[in-house]
Amino acid sequence: MLNLGLNYSQMHDSSACIARDGELLFAVAEERLSRVKHDARFPALAIKACLDFARVRPDQLDYIAFGWSPPRATYLHDLADFVRGRFPISYLNVLNSTRQFVSMQHQGGGQRRFVQHFGQTKARMIFVDHHLAHAISTYANSGFDEAAVVVVDGRGAWEATSIWHGRNGKLEHLLTIPWPNSLGLFYAAFTEYLGFQPYSDEWKVMGLAPYGQPGVNLHDFVSLDHGFYQVDGPGLIGRGSNLGGRIAQRLGPKRVPESEIESRYKDVAFAVQSVCERAMKGIVEMALKKTGCRKLCLAGGVALNSKANGLILSSGLVDNLFVQPAASDDGVALGAVLAPYLEVGERLPVTRMRQVYLGAAYEDAEIEKVLRTYKLRFTQLGNVASSTADLLAAGKIVGWFQGRMEFGPRALGSRSILADPRDAEMNGKVNNAVKFREWWRPFAPSMLAEAAGEFMESATDSPFMILASAVKPEKRSVIPAVTHVDGTARPQTVEKDVNPLYYQLIKAFGQRTGVPVIMNTSFNLRGEPIVSTPTDAIRTFFSSGMDALIIGSFLVEK
Ligand SMILES: [Fe+2]
Repeated sequence: MLNLGLNYSQMHDSSACIARDGELLFAVAEERLSRVKHDARFPALAIKACLDFARVRPDQLDYIAFGWSPPRATYLHDLADFVRGRFPISYLNVLNSTRQFVSMQHQGGGQRRFVQHFGQTKARMIFVDHHLAHAISTYANSGFDEAAVVVVDGRGAWEATSIWHGRNGKLEHLLTIPWPNSLGLFYAAFTEYLGFQPYSDEWKVMGLAPYGQPGVNLHDFVSLDHGFYQVDGPGLIGRGSNLGGRIAQRLGPKRVPESEIESRYKDVAFAVQSVCERAMKGIVEMALKKTGCRKLCLAGGVALNSKANGLILSSGLVDNLFVQPAASDDGVALGAVLAPYLEVGERLPVTRMRQVYLGAAYEDAEIEKVLRTYKLRFTQLGNVASSTADLLAAGKIVGWFQGRMEFGPRALGSRSILADPRDAEMNGKVNNAVKFREWWRPFAPSMLAEAAGEFMESATDSPFMILASAVKPEKRSVIPAVTHVDGTARPQTVEKDVNPLYYQLIKAFGQRTGVPVIMNTSFNLRGEPIVSTPTDAIRTFFSSGMDALIIGSFLVEK
């Protein structure tokens, strides 16, 4: 079966992936190709990249699966919520909801857009309920035969949180909490209140939280009685076009974006993160109880909350945890692409995802051509890992462009900016010179998998930087640039067979310094998508304070 899976909702993070007989061949978010962050348009560039990689024509596809219900499902839910008072009825809210429906309906939910771009196809086009697509994306990639599956996001057509039981390649639906009783909405509304971009910058709030103090009471907006969350959706949505609702009335004026962060905002971030962690724990406890499982799969945007994920794992509630690394809506394509197996009554192909290097790669010859086009001076390296380790050990900030691009929000050693984690000043240097981003956002370490036990309290297999856990107290001063203020880190554990070159680099750095850990942050400037092509990388390199660029076998220096 040759299938294309898509995320297209006009809301955010359009994406596409292609799979043959259950094997993921290629996946990419539209933003990487269009260079528009969180691009919500029809993912025509991503689809073309999938087809080109697999060398197939659109008419050779068996299924094209959209990770959303048909447009009317969302609209009918909205209308019902207007009537019941769960969605504040106002000119702007009704207008936005209707406009979204009319636009998507006109496009056949994306079907007509596909034909416009790629011509008629004999492929069957199907709509997959949004949370089912999220659930498949994590269960089918977990490698678990049986597991509790939890999806928590902003919203699907009607879903906000759902619980499933994965068993023998099938998913049994157990529970859905409908929007707007949504943990994702709760977090997004406070993200906006704190002056950041909702449904995008939630991790800034997570990073800010440890700087706050307990004491802010959020009971007006969320309750955690009986262990399960209840969000005041109408109070958070409000009647205008922006999220936020009644927050400012209760907690004072919202923070002006880019302004100084007063301590009261830090305290709000602390409270929001604390609620999120407790709410996630409550949902997980219910899922484990309903399924009788001790293995857990997570997806949905809230599952990107690495602090909450780390706490679930360290709580002892579960024996095994798999978080699909593209947990947000770009990863819905990974579920949609496998949904046709359930459609025809077959079992899902369940495999253990070890890597997400699912994007495009560039050969040295292509890279060299680009370097010559721009008339850049460059050196071809004999041993890329060794030379890069020398630069890092000398305190240089290095752009690293190698192999196939990562799918999902994290750079995992293909499109990364690397630096020495031993330098306490490095966090500030990279922030100021390269990322131009907020001072409090922590950077993450990549470490040899076998060294994780030396640095982390609980040496967990963590290939995707999606689990935060405590750095051993005696090691916090060894790798200060990647240890957050609360003593945690969000490591990527690197295995030799998964990414040999990146492994060699970290090992070579360890041989020079005694610390087999490097600082890894995504290769992009603030507010831009991660670089995709050599041209993107070169442009970003020269627009920043990076010292060197290692691109394929080539070294470019300033
Ligand atoms: Fe979602």
